[in-house]
Amino acid sequence: MNENAPDIGKATEIIRNGGLVAMPTETVYGLAADACNDRAVARIFEAKGRPQFNPLIIHVTGVDMARRYVAFSPLAEKLADHFWPGALTLVLARREDSAISRLVSAGLETIAVRAPNHQLAQKLINAIDRPVAAPSANRSGSISPTKPEHVRDSLGAKVDLILDGGRCIVGVESTIVKVDDDAITLLRPGGITKEEIEQQLGCAIATADKAATIEAPGMLASHYAPNAQIRLDVTKPKNNEAFLGFGTNTIESPNALTLSTDGDLQEAAANLFDCLHRLDKMAEKHGLKGIACAPIPMDGLGIAINDRLSRAAAPKNDGI
Ligand code: TXA
Ligand code: MG
Repeated sequence: MNENAPDIGKATEIIRNGGLVAMPTETVYGLAADACNDRAVARIFEAKGRPQFNPLIIHVTGVDMARRYVAFSPLAEKLADHFWPGALTLVLARREDSAISRLVSAGLETIAVRAPNHQLAQKLINAIDRPVAAPSANRSGSISPTKPEHVRDSLGAKVDLILDGGRCIVGVESTIVKVDDDAITLLRPGGITKEEIEQQLGCAIATADKAATIEAPGMLASHYAPNAQIRLDVTKPKNNEAFLGFGTNTIESPNALTLSTDGDLQEAAANLFDCLHRLDKMAEKHGLKGIACAPIPMDGLGIAINDRLSRAAAPKNDGI
């Protein structure tokens, strides 16, 4: 018996009754609800304060479960075979008889689906025997949670249960690709790099332009944002700024944290959101003006890290 087994039983009951469970995944914690229950899905939007036009990802145990709700082209099948369970979300055509709530996909004819690579998430979905819809378990627009306490701080009593799976090992959200038959487009960079996907497929993949990404990934300019103002590509922070270091760009200061002293992008991704949470608290406590961030190389996982940092730095949207 696993020590978390009782929680899975409780979590299953909560989801079956239309409640909300914070579910650990390898990327970030998700705010999970029964994807086939309109009212439960509506509760996710309400708890997050999320704009209804921003669709959600459904989480499945694997291809067999996904097939009940979406159509797989041979290309989609190849990607799922190789990358699932894992940090790759596939946007696929909704099956006509799909039981997934229309609220999940905000009226689109496609559904975003992934199989998380985390034992607790797998156990939970398996026990419910249908998909859970789960956006990151934070207030809309703020920093994503990679530890149970991040969820508690952001959503508190709005969650019925937090399944404690420790810290998330990947630390940035999944990569999202849209697959139309044999065409593939990258919608959001994430835990699996574009190069890994290209290597697997043996061809280059296109990145959606900014206008197209509004259509769906709800890729709002301001997202993942701490309260403090973020300044990017800084090597020398000002006296009144907290500092997020990387590699050789580190400083000795009680107001500084480093993503990875070795310049390791995987370690940096895993630490990113936790560092932002902590620096935000430091900035507030010590009355600092903002958070300065060291430059991160634009390759591999650095692309997802820079994507999140630039959204964290963007001017905030009204009410989002
Ligand atoms: O790693 C992750 O993906 C985490 C964990 C919990 O799985 N989830 C996550 O969910 O990041 P969320 O809701 O924060 O981001 C989901 C993204 C949004 O940008 C949304 O617009 C996009 O997926 N999306 C959902 N359905 C879509 C669809 N049908 N077409 C295009 N994009 C879609
Ligand atoms: Mg999110």
